[in-house]
Amino acid sequence: MLVAAKEMLQKAKAGHYAVAQININNLEWTKAVLLTSQEVESPVILGVSEGAGKYMGGYNAIVGMTNGLIKDLGITVPVALHLDHGSFEHCYKCMDAGFMSIMFDGSHYPFAENVEKTRKVVADAMARGVSVEAEVGSIGGEEDGVVGTGELADPQECKAIADLGVDFLAAGIGNIHGKYPDNWAGLSFETLDAIQQLTGDLPLVLHGGTGIPIEMIQRAISLGVAKINVNTECQLSFAAATRSYIEAGKDLEGKGFDPRKLLAPGFTAIKATVKEKMEIFGSVGKA
Ligand code: 13P
Repeated sequence: MLVAAKEMLQKAKAGHYAVAQININNLEWTKAVLLTSQEVESPVILGVSEGAGKYMGGYNAIVGMTNGLIKDLGITVPVALHLDHGSFEHCYKCMDAGFMSIMFDGSHYPFAENVEKTRKVVADAMARGVSVEAEVGSIGGEEDGVVGTGELADPQECKAIADLGVDFLAAGIGNIHGKYPDNWAGLSFETLDAIQQLTGDLPLVLHGGTGIPIEMIQRAISLGVAKINVNTECQLSFAAATRSYIEAGKDLEGKGFDPRKLLAPGFTAIKATVKEKMEIFGSVGKA
């Protein structure tokens, strides 16, 4: 059964670990993430960007696929399906389709507009028992057409958004979607610390989980991060494993072209990446 993300993240924040949000792209991705979470007994959040939502056919298709896999694979760990960087309109589309968790990303609006739109989404989501993530500052880089400048969040603005009743908050602290450039300045722990001081028990979200060194992840968790988003790293492991299979000519041997064989190395690679992340984030055994 799909659950809201609020409770699992409150538990994570209190227990000083983080739950992984792994973004999904198709059935292989979803199955790989669900099976790994079950194997390591970890709660998990399946992230769906608007682009991935469109790619998979739509939000109803994703809810149906995920619920079906949970039932057929006997998944008992808590699973939340979560809209990633949602627009106002898509927050409602996802809630109507059965998502129990949404991110309203109003960070590109003037702050007053971000506040008003977030307030409305929170009120409507709360009435449906759906969890809400909001964003202040911005995540650098690009993800599925969502481009951010990488502006550091203002802790006072974080408090104002937290006070609207959001369930967890993404704040720009120097994090970037995609691979980190060689000259990356690192996470701003000063900003994160100031945000946590003002937002108290609210679980904080670290986007751009791909490529952040382990020590930085651990420090971020110690300063209140309870959800870490990972997308690019699974795409890279899937692509590398698929490349090796084809470069070794395995698709040309026997029935190696069968999609169930062709996609198997990528599937296994995603599983390994997800397991590694859950171990680093400390959520193993916390289901
Ligand atoms: P990466 O693609 O850098 O892992 O970021 C994922 C993310 O933040 C999803 O919102």
